[in-house]
Amino acid sequence: MRLMAIIGSPRRGGNTDVLADKVIEGYLSKTTAEVVKIFVTEKKIGYCTGCLSCTFPPPGTKTCIIRDDMDDLLAQLTSADAFIFGTPNHMRTVSAPLLTFLSRMLPLMQFLPDMDAEGRIIGGGFTSSLKGKKAAMVISQGDPIFSSALVHAVLERNLIDFGIRRVGDVISSGNMLPGDAAKKQHDLEKAFQLGVALYTTAGMY
Ligand SMILES: Cc1cc2nc3c(=O)[nH]c(=O)nc-3n(C[C@H](O)[C@H](O)[C@H](O)COP(=O)(O)O)c2cc1C
Repeated sequence: MRLMAIIGSPRRGGNTDVLADKVIEGYLSKTTAEVVKIFVTEKKIGYCTGCLSCTFPPPGTKTCIIRDDMDDLLAQLTSADAFIFGTPNHMRTVSAPLLTFLSRMLPLMQFLPDMDAEGRIIGGGFTSSLKGKKAAMVISQGDPIFSSALVHAVLERNLIDFGIRRVGDVISSGNMLPGDAAKKQHDLEKAFQLGVALYTTAGMY
């Protein structure tokens, strides 16, 4: 088993990191697994150029034209069994580094077009080489009341498009200073149980 935690916060030891560590702890309470945790901001990951050659024309090349750390990270994603996607709420959405990372995951996704008789794309859907793997979502926000609806929706919708089964989330509020989440026993316990669920439950597409 291999668990890959992808942390979109630029703060090592910050709230997202602390909560993700609890999810890892919960997962490891159920199984021995190799755990890889990566901080997206510590990797060399260029912006997607928008060429779409990895997916278009369907099926596309399945390869990105950019050579950087994403080559290795795509291989790591492919060989993992389960994921933690963690992000702080930045400007009401996922952090910019995590959004860049998600964009650069596109070579793992294949667009399956529905075509009309003239070969025009009239609809379609996605499949991906991550189909059937499982993921837990971790979100930390500064506001004391829930304001991460968009963060959650962006993360959730992308996991659905990649065919990744979602097992649940932990959303921790009121965390402005890096150590704030570490004082929230309820959120830490929820994160631990999320880690347990990441191993014991099937999750939903
Ligand atoms: C650029 C930036 C934008 C932010 N935007 C929001 C926001 O829109 N809503 C919110 O509740 N918190 C916002 N925050 C606060 C972070 O979500 C919060 O401090 C979070 O706990 C940080 O997690 P971390 O310690 O893992 O980096 C923002 C922080 C930064 C640095």
